[in-house]
Amino acid sequence: MTQVSPSLLSADFGRLNDDLEMINRSGADLLHLDVMDGVFVPNISFGFPVMEAVAKACRVPLDVHLMIVEPQKFTAQVAALGAKYMTVHAEACIHLDRVLHQIKDAGMQAGVALNPATPLSAVENVLDVADLILLMSVNPGFGGQKFIENTINKVTKLRCMLDEAGSKAVIEIDGGVNGDTGARLVAAGADVLVAGSYVFGASDPIATIAQLRAL
Ligand code: DX5
Ligand code: ZN
Repeated sequence: MTQVSPSLLSADFGRLNDDLEMINRSGADLLHLDVMDGVFVPNISFGFPVMEAVAKACRVPLDVHLMIVEPQKFTAQVAALGAKYMTVHAEACIHLDRVLHQIKDAGMQAGVALNPATPLSAVENVLDVADLILLMSVNPGFGGQKFIENTINKVTKLRCMLDEAGSKAVIEIDGGVNGDTGARLVAAGADVLVAGSYVFGASDPIATIAQLRAL
């Protein structure tokens, strides 16, 4: 079964408790939290005060995606949330191998994200330590953008790389996921689908999560 990680970025922040209650009842596998710093990406989202409140109210494991420079500075704070995954961008880490080990030493699963233009070779030498590879299928910074088609080829290639390396890392895709792109991503080898606007903009978000999980 495909894992689904709804992205809180598209939730209604004025009614966050209602949306978190929906997530708790939905059967979602993870809750995706997009942290933006206005430097690594051209937007700012939310930080620890909001994530601490979310962590208290949410019974679904947290999938924290840091779109920030120097993400290693925040490893202990993300661990204190009780997060399952902490994902950092390869483009933001000079010492990526060290950062991934720090995340694991802090008791979390380590994820590496790649922007659409970043080649898969950026993760080739950390496949033994990464638990999750996140391929961005839009340029990060905003929800509701159009899916970049080249991602399908990238997933196919990454699946081969992981299989050849004997890696158990899961492939997560983030950006422009809907029923159509989701089905094609899963066919290409994706394990985890992040979906923001498709889930929170749906008339029935719980049914939409179930639809993606069944792909
Ligand atoms: C984009 C974020 C995504 C975003 C996805 O920078 O990393 O997680 O919320 O939103 P949709 O699913 O609407 O493209
Ligand atoms: Zn994300």
